Amino acid sequence: MCGIVGYIGTKKACPILLAGLSRLEYRGYDSAGISTIEKNGLSLVKDKGRVKILENNPAINTLEGTIGIAHTRWATHGKPSKENSHPHQDNSKIFSVVHNGIIENYQELRNMLEKNGYTFLSQTDTEVIPNLINYYYKKEQEHDIHAFLKAVRNCCLDLKGSFAIEVISSEFPKNMIVVRKDSPLVIGTCESEKYISSDIPAILSYTRDFYFLNDLEFALLENTNTTFFNSNLEEINKPTSNIEWDATASEKNGYEDFMLKEIYEQPTAIRETIGSKISLESKCDFEELELTKDYLESVNKIYIIACGTAMHAGLAGKNVIEKLCRIPVEVDIASEFRYRNPIVNEKTLCIFISQSGETADTIAALKLAKLCGSRTIAISNVIGSSITREADYSIYTHAGPEIAVASTKAYTSQVVLLNMLALYFAEILEIVDMDLINNIKKEMLLLPKKIEETFSCKNSIQEFAKKIYQEKDVFFLGRGIDETVAKEGSLKLKEISYIHSESYAAGELKHGPIALIENGITVISILMDSSLIEKTISNIQEVISRGAKTLVVTSHDCNTTMFDEVIKIPDTIPYLSPILSVIPLQLLAYYISKEKGLDVDKPRNLAKSVTVE
Ligand code: M6R
Repeated sequence: MCGIVGYIGTKKACPILLAGLSRLEYRGYDSAGISTIEKNGLSLVKDKGRVKILENNPAINTLEGTIGIAHTRWATHGKPSKENSHPHQDNSKIFSVVHNGIIENYQELRNMLEKNGYTFLSQTDTEVIPNLINYYYKKEQEHDIHAFLKAVRNCCLDLKGSFAIEVISSEFPKNMIVVRKDSPLVIGTCESEKYISSDIPAILSYTRDFYFLNDLEFALLENTNTTFFNSNLEEINKPTSNIEWDATASEKNGYEDFMLKEIYEQPTAIRETIGSKISLESKCDFEELELTKDYLESVNKIYIIACGTAMHAGLAGKNVIEKLCRIPVEVDIASEFRYRNPIVNEKTLCIFISQSGETADTIAALKLAKLCGSRTIAISNVIGSSITREADYSIYTHAGPEIAVASTKAYTSQVVLLNMLALYFAEILEIVDMDLINNIKKEMLLLPKKIEETFSCKNSIQEFAKKIYQEKDVFFLGRGIDETVAKEGSLKLKEISYIHSESYAAGELKHGPIALIENGITVISILMDSSLIEKTISNIQEVISRGAKTLVVTSHDCNTTMFDEVIKIPDTIPYLSPILSVIPLQLLAYYISKEKGLDVDKPRNLAKSVTVE
């Protein structure tokens, strides 16, 4: 939700900010804007629409300043318009501010400021921030850098909600202040330049050294120096972290879209996620988790909590953990978990999954689980992300940056990592036969090659996409582990093709939804689990007899004349089958979106990282 970028250094800020915005555009794309410190004060150029529109604004070419802030918006308060675009300024135009997050008490603050003579140009929650900074700044006797810092701090203490904020001021032409609370913000550093961004990939081509701020820590930036303060404005030390991601990983590298590139990166993502943790010679090693046999034996329930695709990976995780470890696993949507007074205590282990590590609902659910006394493990793809800083322990998928809004390689990497975690628990608990453990490990190591083989379905999928891209409704069916993949296939189709779709446990169809099956409707089924295949085929027969068009994704030899299209993929054990069976569904959603001429990487109304509740 919204991308913010900032630069302070020796070069012209504008081109760097625009490049950053283009890379962050997947976070929001309904308007964009920029403010720099120029010789005659603060510049402000902003407009409704994509970053391209901002780039083509003639005023952009006049910006010479070496310090600036910029924003790409995903509207929360106020429709997309020039007035509602960021940056926002205070009434005296001393401060320019960009903000990602939501100010929940903005109306109250706005009323207070209006009573004090301030006026507002936009309907946004953000516009209270520069005015509130101005309000506190004016109260200071001395207008020095400390007064600037104090005004920003006082403003932030008044804000309820989430925010990542960058502030520049015409009165402090060599500085920028940044702060965050429950919204992402990273600071990239090199000798005489500082780069600020909502996420790492947008600035990875400039530096690999990053500072991560905790909630309500303030960074006062100059081009050669960064000073950090806590909320009492006491100076604090912060280490830098070196990020190993390759800068080219955040480029399209010849692919038409990031989503297609990321689908094809899955063999590498899985290989990297497995790393050296899985081998037939030794036990699966997650020593960073420090879990003992006594502790695991005391756990009476595991919760897996996440949103969207990450939650679907959690469903695959439940399947393998329950089967191998015989501990009940409940999978919950983070936004629901938080509000239903969940039964969580010191005997509950809570696992939180988030590709970005910045999803507001997941972070809030994690804080709640900690308060209830549960141990918490974060699974994320982003080192230093908020969720990893909140959790007791963190483990990582190594999928590399995922830029497309539709998650693909993160999902398959999460499923692999959950299988690895299940193996690790099972080996500690010593309750599973070594032959089964070794078989899972062997199959896991074969996955990258089998994913490559699965890509050979591309042409058939592309042809099928041409046949169904104008459909209004599509159904996905599966049983057991295959149902979890049906859910993911359905979500992928909805979000990037805008086709309404539903996923059902195949056996549940006859309890109501079959009423929706009519002549010509498309039903896509996943048939990987051999123990359930006959049952699911019977359910498919039921929709065929009501006129449905059928596509089947399977590793088994099916009667191909029964179905309209059979996508044959390599076989593996059921625990790992989602990693292969989801690939045709990812490709199908992709090619349908292309047939419809849609923006695959930036679907309407969505943003990659959902940092608002
Ligand atoms: O970054 P996270 O894994 O926490 O994101 C969770 C969901 O917002 C995300 O998976 C979303 O459902 C994707 N757009 C699905 O493709």
